Amino acid sequence: MKQKISKELGREALTALLQTRSPLGPLKVMAKHVGRFFQIPLPGFRPYVVHGHEAARKVLVTDRDKLLWRNTDPVTDLLQRGILITDGEEHDHYRSLMETPFHPSQLTHYTEMMIRQTEHVASAWKDGETVDMLVESRKIALLIIMQTLFSRDARNDIPQIWKPILKSIEYISPGAWILWRKIPRFGFRQPLRELDDYLFGIIEERRKGKEEIKKGDFLGHLIDAGLSDRIIRDQMVTMLIAGHDTSTALLAWVFAMLGQHPDVHKKLVEEVDALEKSPLLDQVIKESLRLYPPIHIGNRRVAEKIEFAEGKIPAGERMFYSIYLTHRDPEIWENAEQFCPERFAHGRKTPPMSYIPFGGGPRACIGAAFGQAEARVVLAHLLKHFTFEFTGHPIHPHMGATLEPRPGVRMRVARRAVEGGTLRLRSGQEWKVESHQ
Ligand code: HEM
Repeated sequence: MKQKISKELGREALTALLQTRSPLGPLKVMAKHVGRFFQIPLPGFRPYVVHGHEAARKVLVTDRDKLLWRNTDPVTDLLQRGILITDGEEHDHYRSLMETPFHPSQLTHYTEMMIRQTEHVASAWKDGETVDMLVESRKIALLIIMQTLFSRDARNDIPQIWKPILKSIEYISPGAWILWRKIPRFGFRQPLRELDDYLFGIIEERRKGKEEIKKGDFLGHLIDAGLSDRIIRDQMVTMLIAGHDTSTALLAWVFAMLGQHPDVHKKLVEEVDALEKSPLLDQVIKESLRLYPPIHIGNRRVAEKIEFAEGKIPAGERMFYSIYLTHRDPEIWENAEQFCPERFAHGRKTPPMSYIPFGGGPRACIGAAFGQAEARVVLAHLLKHFTFEFTGHPIHPHMGATLEPRPGVRMRVARRAVEGGTLRLRSGQEWKVESHQ
């Protein structure tokens, strides 16, 4: 397929870039005018973009052997031999080692920890204070991943690891390195080393048996499998980033959506108060994932020529499958641009692979069940025990390592009335809570 980008299309794409302050704008313009298969015409970087449920099936299932996950980019530099970016037998070996800690049967063990860490972060909020739910969600998601996967209660570690984590995320976020791979990147070496030292420290403590041993946790599985410290570090950093940055974005987007749709927010709080399991909460999470999938694009290198209905991509090229565009396909989704949680109320009616927030096929997200359970637990807990009042500022999606609501989601928070100063969880556990009023 020879694709000619007319001057008008170029101009429209540029206008969209300026208006939306994000490459998502031009991607939408290309999808509208060129279709489900196009090449991004940047100097020195001309990746192909495909989208739609048929392309997703090819990329994720039928033709996935023609594609490589491993690339030459900062993600690979950071994760090294992490499961997310290895191929073939090596990938399958890591994946088989990790299935048990992520098995849905494990999720109930994690619920208590998820609530505890959520409550820890929320207990620092003062009544009437305005907090940024992007930042607060990150704290919650970080503490949860550290405790559930590495049995590490990281509350006191946050000041030490906060900057290294943010720098790691910045390191892998799109930037000038896309056009100039070897561009000097300053200010990363030290924080990335600090993160490594922190993770190697956890591995060492566990090997020495200093840390309380939780045989069945993720770290325990990797150690028992006889992996080297280096490979374990690669899997830990992968899980730390892939497992918390995505949940951070999801939680923050849900707050953004609730802030912008007060009717849904009100109904949701009523339902969460009244029911053990709120169907609307599930729908809100699903719809947020549809409109703002934290991983909005899948990145591949083409190992063998791959053919789509609309064109071919030769071996050696870079290819993206766009989850964002697939989720907004107007031929599939009615009022595709609208936030409408009820569309998920009566089961899914769209074709397979048209809704892929967790990817699909054999390499679908290993944390899909975990991530959704976490979102349900954290949100139900917060909505039940706090009020959230959106301050009404503009929000736009930012393409970082994940798709994030920027400049954050500022909300006024206050703890809802608690009987006799004691917060009682469904599990029977109790917390004494201080009122900051
Ligand atoms: C809202 C939460 C999450 C979202 C939206 C999400 C999304 C995704 C997507 C789209 C993929 C496939 C990427 C591709 O095809 O290139 C993926 C893969 C992956 N995710 Fe998640 N994820 C989430 C949570 C998690 C969590 C909690 C963990 C771990 C604790 C995790 C670990 C992984 C790993 C290791 C892979 C690679 C799997 C493989 O290649 O075998 N994710 N995720």
